[in-house]
Amino acid sequence: MPFQVTIKPSNHVFAVRDGETVLEAALREGFVIAYGCRNGACGTCKGKLLEGRVDYGRCQEHALPHAERQAGMALFCQARPLSDLAIECREIGAAKDIPIRKLPARVHRMRRLAPDVMLLHLKLPASERLQFLAGQYIDILLKEGRRRSFSMASPPHDDALLELHLRNYGGRFSRHVFDRMKEGDILRFEGPLGTFFLREESGKPVVFVAGGTGFAPIKAMIEDAFHRGVARELTLYWGARARADLYLHELPQQWQREHANFRYVPVLSEALPADEWTGRSGLVHRAVMEDIPDLSSHQVYTCGNPAMVEAAHRDFTARCRTPEDEFFSDSFTPAATDPA
Ligand code: FES
Repeated sequence: MPFQVTIKPSNHVFAVRDGETVLEAALREGFVIAYGCRNGACGTCKGKLLEGRVDYGRCQEHALPHAERQAGMALFCQARPLSDLAIECREIGAAKDIPIRKLPARVHRMRRLAPDVMLLHLKLPASERLQFLAGQYIDILLKEGRRRSFSMASPPHDDALLELHLRNYGGRFSRHVFDRMKEGDILRFEGPLGTFFLREESGKPVVFVAGGTGFAPIKAMIEDAFHRGVARELTLYWGARARADLYLHELPQQWQREHANFRYVPVLSEALPADEWTGRSGLVHRAVMEDIPDLSSHQVYTCGNPAMVEAAHRDFTARCRTPEDEFFSDSFTPAATDPA
């Protein structure tokens, strides 16, 4: 039988299914409790049991000393309810509430998604997890203080591996990834960073506009929205040059089949004859304007190269009545510290 948990002082209520920890259930239902390792080792998820009983699970003594347990504390990444609960814990309301950390990661898997796009799966040390909001990015830390930013393409609930999509721009790090990096290599990164995440307080329909690998953070946001049962209308416009640049084209097609509130519009600007493309052509943001000439009651999330993001911002706000505060973007500004 599911137990009910009430978080104080917010009075957020969620149900915990059989076998779930309090943290797992909270995340599934869209309430983000602070966490780190999800392993009973770091203490980040610690909070107070105000009412009810739990199975404490496997907690390391330094993360939850005996005296704290006696005083009513528990690690919510481990605790499983034995009755309805009232708890006090740190809820994450915005990116500023999530600590930014420096961590090592192992390159777990590499897969070419297109001739110039590489998928990287990064694995954190066994006792670590990275808490982030869907849409945020990390900085890979390179030699001589250089950094390269990459959005997480995987949603936060799927945090065993971090997924990144890298386009080969010919810079030093890109060349390293495409020519020399191999599975098992170790990287260091800092994150999570950025404020490109879905604003939850709104119920407005969402238009996502992705250019090329700008699909990565948008993929995370959409998968996160599906996971949490967000009922808002979600439309993805994914723009690329040729068919091969829509490097995961089948995935949004599948989402469209499986989710009634999701629609996918791929747009190619330089389709090749071999593509035999019969879909939309031209600039991706222009396709949005043709379909939705009045965007005044939508939220827009745009990610891609700076020219695309700037054009979308200019034209949507000037000609489609997108309110300034309903336009969110993340543009790939080349890192000044990573010369080609
Ligand atoms: S002890 Fe690290 S998240 Fe729970």
